Amino acid sequence: ELISKGNHRHYMLKEIYEQPVVVAQTLRSYLRRMEDQVSLPVPDFDLGAIRRVTIVACGTSYYAGMVAKYWFEQFARVPVDIDVASEFRYRAPVMEDGGLMIVISQSGETADTLAALRHARSEGQKIAAVVNVPTSTMAREADLLLPTHAGPEIGVASTKAFTCQLAVLAAFAANLARAKGRLDGKAEKELVRHLAEAPAALNAALAYDESIEAMAHLVAGARDVLYLGRGPDYPLALEGALKLKEISYIHAEGYAAGEMKHGPIALIDDKVPVIVLAPSGPLFEKTVSNMQEVQARGGKVVLISDYDGVQAAGEGCIATITMPKVHPLIAPMVYAVPVQLLAYHVAVAKGTDVDQPRNLAKSVTVE
Ligand code: G6P
Repeated sequence: ELISKGNHRHYMLKEIYEQPVVVAQTLRSYLRRMEDQVSLPVPDFDLGAIRRVTIVACGTSYYAGMVAKYWFEQFARVPVDIDVASEFRYRAPVMEDGGLMIVISQSGETADTLAALRHARSEGQKIAAVVNVPTSTMAREADLLLPTHAGPEIGVASTKAFTCQLAVLAAFAANLARAKGRLDGKAEKELVRHLAEAPAALNAALAYDESIEAMAHLVAGARDVLYLGRGPDYPLALEGALKLKEISYIHAEGYAAGEMKHGPIALIDDKVPVIVLAPSGPLFEKTVSNMQEVQARGGKVVLISDYDGVQAAGEGCIATITMPKVHPLIAPMVYAVPVQLLAYHVAVAKGTDVDQPRNLAKSVTVE
């Protein structure tokens, strides 16, 4: 193989470890640090005139889009529609003038996403593409190309492409906010500073690899696993569950923490590990109270939070994973690391083919 695994046992682990470097690389082309400004390619259409954003993607790229929806709405105050590509095309979506479609794809070739892009174009939408392969079909067909600089991703389960997509989308949300007069210089400076902290925070998150490996057996024996998160960390719960399913073949579900009481709480017993993603921040207390509902029913909780969060709510958990304390903006990037590592170590413990999981393909070119 042309690309080596280096000292790593699998491509997936190598790619997880590359994240601080490739996210830094990606941010370098989207941030002008000296001026504390985001800096994106200038499209040949008026960004300030965009009235609605539609995000379409598949798999892990779709979850990056879900996180981005929070940012576009919060910073730019533009309504965002999001759909998985295979559904979008067939639900007669309403696409009015002034609409921008953002497709997100590691490969730039996923058939459903490409079909959605072409459909949106025929409906007069402008197209932005966040892709990792700059020579791909989506890259060529977009009006605005926003490459991620993750480098080739070999592991079928996407890792580094995801965090790089988040980096690009955060910068893009800030850029759109500025174009719409919603982001003043001071706010932009703060956003840029928080984003620039991501590579070091990703590095700090990787330092917990061994402790995650040590607790993987708590999950490896389970038949079902639940992941809970709120706000921009809810898509991370979905991503955590997807990663675990993909490579360890354990049934897992991601749920919005507050929605758990409307169904999945019925599944809770002492055999279902519940992974709770709860960084300190405005949603912490609410997430913890959902977590306590699980514990009150005998559920076995693994809490992923920062030092303060673990101090405040770690008691009674079967395990805790301590992340660096980060600004909520970059928490979805940083918390991607423990969910990736947990899935990885569980898969290794189960002896599955981590880089080539059964039935899955790196790039799906059929609809
Ligand atoms: C496949 C891969 C996933 C990926 C998804 C979307 O299912 O196994 O890891 O997230 O396709 O791929 P894309 O290249 O469009 O991001």
